[in-house]
Amino acid sequence: MDFEGAVCVVTGAASGIGLASAKAFVDAGATVVGSDIARERLEAAAGEAGFTPVIADVGSEDGNRRLVDEVWDSVGPIDLFYANAGVALGLGDEATAADWDISWRVNAMSRVWAAAALVPRWRERGSGYFVSTASAAGLLMEPRSAPYTLSKHADVAHAEWLAVNHGDVVGVSVVCPEWVQTPLFQGFDDAVDGTADLSDDGVLQPEDIAAAVVTAVREGTFLITPHDQVRGYETGKVKDREWWIAAMRRSVYGR
Ligand SMILES: NC(=O)c1ccc[n+]([C@@H]2O[C@H](COP(=O)([O-])OP(=O)(O)OC[C@H]3O[C@@H](n4cnc5c(N)ncnc54)[C@H](O)[C@@H]3O)[C@@H](O)[C@H]2O)c1
Repeated sequence: MDFEGAVCVVTGAASGIGLASAKAFVDAGATVVGSDIARERLEAAAGEAGFTPVIADVGSEDGNRRLVDEVWDSVGPIDLFYANAGVALGLGDEATAADWDISWRVNAMSRVWAAAALVPRWRERGSGYFVSTASAAGLLMEPRSAPYTLSKHADVAHAEWLAVNHGDVVGVSVVCPEWVQTPLFQGFDDAVDGTADLSDDGVLQPEDIAAAVVTAVREGTFLITPHDQVRGYETGKVKDREWWIAAMRRSVYGR
């Protein structure tokens, strides 16, 4: 897809990967709507990055439908929707019912609800592009958070489902990074005493992810793994799950 003149929506645009991506889409010539639940941070980010802010809570079906309707009616038909907003909650055995509920709604169901509002219109128009930020945890695991792991797996599965069922008309990409230097990462890292990034693969910057997304959308690539090692890990997992589970347990807990 060509960004020049395209109407692009990015959720979670007040911060981190969403903000960097909204900026990259503006730089690539798109008309960008950035959305977030955090009004003050979104408005400040919009001024800095040159996108139109629309406040929305994507943790509900109605929030997604209203966001899509508002942009479609006031800005124009949406060419690309980047479902990026996410939360990292529920460490270890301490995950509460609220952690599970919010994780499902924001990390997984927001993708389902947004796509449900968009796909019929895209089929009618004959084109559209859906991107979501899942995580390497959606292919592998985030051992310290079950809600994060399960909701990110659901995001990857939804992207695959969308690509198989609507890929004749709708471009689909799913982004699966390991850790990226953002407030979400910082919050998680603080909660686990600085041990969030247990791998040697490094913490990337949000701009690295944004650049990878722009390239993948231009080329129509489905799976985006900004940390090169992730595909190798997934291959290892699929080849031998007994080995992979033992290796994960050893690397995280040393037992
Ligand atoms: N940072 C990482 O290491 C990392 C790694 C892999 C995947 N991800 C994923 O990248 C995405 C972006 O996260 P980030 O790291 O840039 O974090 P971030 O905290 O910088 O940004 C997330 C944004 O989502 C917004 N948000 C949360 N709940 C919302 C809701 N209900 N409605 C609307 N907006 C909401 C927040 O206000 C925030 O601005 C998330 O889906 C995250 O899971 C992050």
